[in-house]
This record gives sequence, C-alpha cells and structure tokens, in this order.
Amino acid sequence: MLFSRVRGTQDWLDLRLYNFLVEQAGKHLQRYNFSQIQTPILEQTNLFVRSLGQETDVVTKEMYVFETSSGESICLRPEATAGTMRAFLENHIEKKPWKVWCYGPMFRHERPQKGRWRQFEQINIEVINDDSIQQDAYFIKMLDAFFKDKLFLENYVIKLNFLGCPDDRNNHKKSLKAYLDTVADTICDTCRVRKEKNILRVFDCKNESCQEVYRDAPKLTDYLCVDCGVEWAQLQALLQVLSVSVVLDPSLVRGLDYYNKTVFEFSSRDLGAQDAFCGGGRYDLSEQLGAKKEHPSIGAAMGVGRLLMLVSSVQDRLPVPHEPAVHVLIPMGDDQQPLALLLADVMQTNGLCVDVLLEGGSMKSMMRKANKMGASHVLIIGEAEQRDGTVSVKNMITGDSVVLKQGEVVSYVRKGS
Ligand code: HAM
Repeated sequence: MLFSRVRGTQDWLDLRLYNFLVEQAGKHLQRYNFSQIQTPILEQTNLFVRSLGQETDVVTKEMYVFETSSGESICLRPEATAGTMRAFLENHIEKKPWKVWCYGPMFRHERPQKGRWRQFEQINIEVINDDSIQQDAYFIKMLDAFFKDKLFLENYVIKLNFLGCPDDRNNHKKSLKAYLDTVADTICDTCRVRKEKNILRVFDCKNESCQEVYRDAPKLTDYLCVDCGVEWAQLQALLQVLSVSVVLDPSLVRGLDYYNKTVFEFSSRDLGAQDAFCGGGRYDLSEQLGAKKEHPSIGAAMGVGRLLMLVSSVQDRLPVPHEPAVHVLIPMGDDQQPLALLLADVMQTNGLCVDVLLEGGSMKSMMRKANKMGASHVLIIGEAEQRDGTVSVKNMITGDSVVLKQGEVVSYVRKGS
C-alpha cells in the first residue's frame, strides 16, 4: 500500500509562483523598513493558551500538542504573533517600534476544505511597541498597496472594526448578554455556550441563522469610551486620506482573544467559504506573557495558500521568473560519461543549466527524452567527439547542428539560449 499525505496537508510540486509571492512580500516589506526574522515552529503550549485565550477554537480544539519525555507540554505553533512577542521579550529588544516579519508553516487541526489546511503557510508581519493609531492606518495601507499594486488583485474588500479597550468591551458585553438572553432559543448550541463563556466569540459563528440574529445585536463601536471613540474616528479619516476603501463590519471580532481596538480582514469572494486571505489587528500581549508592562502592537498574517489561489488568475500579469533554458548532454557510451560530466561541470560553473543523460539507450530514445525535457540544446559526445576534442551540438529550436571544439561550447550555447 502506498502512503498518502496526512489529511489537510499539501505537496507543492511547482514552487515558482509560491516563491515569487514570498519574495515580492519580502521586497515590499523591506521598503517599509521591516526585517525578516524566524522563530521556532515548536513553542510551549502555554504560550498560546495565555495569549490566544482559553475559550478560542484554536486553543480548545485545534492545537497539535505533545508531551516531551521530560513532561513538558509543547506544540506546533498555530500562529506566529505569540512567538514573535515571546522573542521580543526574551531577547530584550529595545527597538521602538520593532518592525519584523516571518514566513513559515502553522498548524491547526481544523476540518480540511477548500482553502483550509491543517498545515498552512503564513507571512506574518508585526509592528511591536507602537501605540499610535496612525500606525494602524499606515499598516493597512501597506497591505492594501501590496495586494493591489504588486499582485494586481482587485476583487477583495477590507473589513474593518474597532474593539475598543477592555472597559468598552465590558460595557458592551452587558448589553450584548441582555440581547442574547432574549434570543437564546434562536441561536445554536455552540453560541449558547459562548454566550456564557466568551461572549464576543458568538460573532465567529459560521451559522447563517445565528448571523442573522446578530445583525440586530448591540454594536461594540457604540460603546467606545471618549479616547477610543476619537481613535476610531481618526483611523477612518486617515484611511480615507490614504485612499483605502474599507467596509465597516460590526461582527468582525477575529478568532483570537489578544486583540484590542483595530481589527481588519482582507477577504475575497473568489475564495469561496474560506474567504479571508489576510487578517490582523492591534493587540496587547506582553503582560499576559509575563512582562512588567504592555507593549501595544499591531500585526497581520497572510495565508499564502489562499493568496496563491487568488494570484493564479492574474499570473500572466506578474513578472514570475521563467525556468532557465536547459542544455542536455548525451554521452553515447560508458566511456564518454566522465567527459560529459566534466563538460557539464564547466557549463554549470559558467551559470548554465545542464542535465546529463546517464542511463544510456539508443540515440533516438535519448533525443526523444531530451526533447521531452524541453532541451534548448542537445550536446552529443560519441567516440569520434571524444577522440577529436569536440561536441556535436543541436539547437532544438532552430534544428541547426554544428560540431564545436569543447572549449567553444559555453559561448556558443549562451548566444543561442
Ligand atoms: P488568522 O486570521 O488566524 O490570524 O490567520 C491569518 C490568515 O491565515 C487567514 O486570513 C488565512 O488567510 C490564513 N489561515 C488561517 N488558518 C488557515 C488554515 N487552516 N488554512 C489555510 N489558511 C489559513 C492570525 O494568525 C494572527 N496571528 C494574525 C496577526 C498577526 N494578528 C496580529 N498579528
């Protein structure tokens, strides 16, 4: 029996577009003065329990948790924000703000479906230790510029909401609870539990009938204190100045508990049910992770798999690098193989892409194989060529053949590629 992939994982067999995307993101972020970092895939389980929230889906049912032989509970990271904040605190970073991004796999044991995997890659971006609301607008503008100007995406919206400060949420919670008590018999069992345990999470419910009920629920933005109210107005005004169009969405609360104030999501109908390809917001996480004071921050993560689904339809407009021309060397017998390998080595040292057919066979079958490989030139070394210090070169595009001195091959092939 052949092995199959673990459910919810993917094999990437052509990474050209994928690498292009990550590279473009890196270049874009560099222009905004972000540095790339890398944190471990393995982290302590408690890092996420403390930061994402005990009643969130990610923590209650989606983490891949292991106990080590020494009894320590570790897990495969479900997201990168908590690890980045841990790295900031543990390494006593003093830069203010600390603008960093990282890229890599995340793991969540969710039900796999189109656009939702158990292992998926994120490009995760954080501005740590900066509490200005202007930073939020600038950050959202930066993301929008990437999707619009660098990836030519058009069919998406930016959903925006403001979660206020903890006091605002407490005030809102009371009204929300009173409202939900009156409609308790019309919402699903999960929402009834969430209503008691972590009330804002009811808005994450995917159930259309529940969402219908929540359309009339009290809005958090109606419960903002004076300071938060001013920031919320400033954020919207600044986004307008920066020509970023947003859709205000009072039910956008995001699935993780660390958010305060600004939250946003980039979503596209072209993706189907899993329509968010980037999400984030402002958060306070450092005291929860043991620091003496808060370091207000803002960040976001893009789902690379979902972004690829969107980008593949505009691929022709993107400067994705082509594969280099491949030149195929054919040694006609065992005796010519060392010479073929030496010539290949010289060509590769000179920056050419070369492959050598070492399995032997008839001239006809090897030519057919070289053709299938998309060879730009075929270089044949038989007994005569070995004796004379030459190579027979066929240009597979024009069909021209020449016999060259071995020392002339590199410049000839370069000219014809
Ligand atoms: P998130 O919304 O959980 O936020 O994930 C961000 C993005 O990752 C989503 O919009 C989606 O594109 C992608 N994603 C999430 N789960 C999956 C999955 N199972 N399969 C495929 N793609 C997925 C965070 O992770 C926050 N840490 C973002 C953040 C950074 N907030 C502040 N800083």
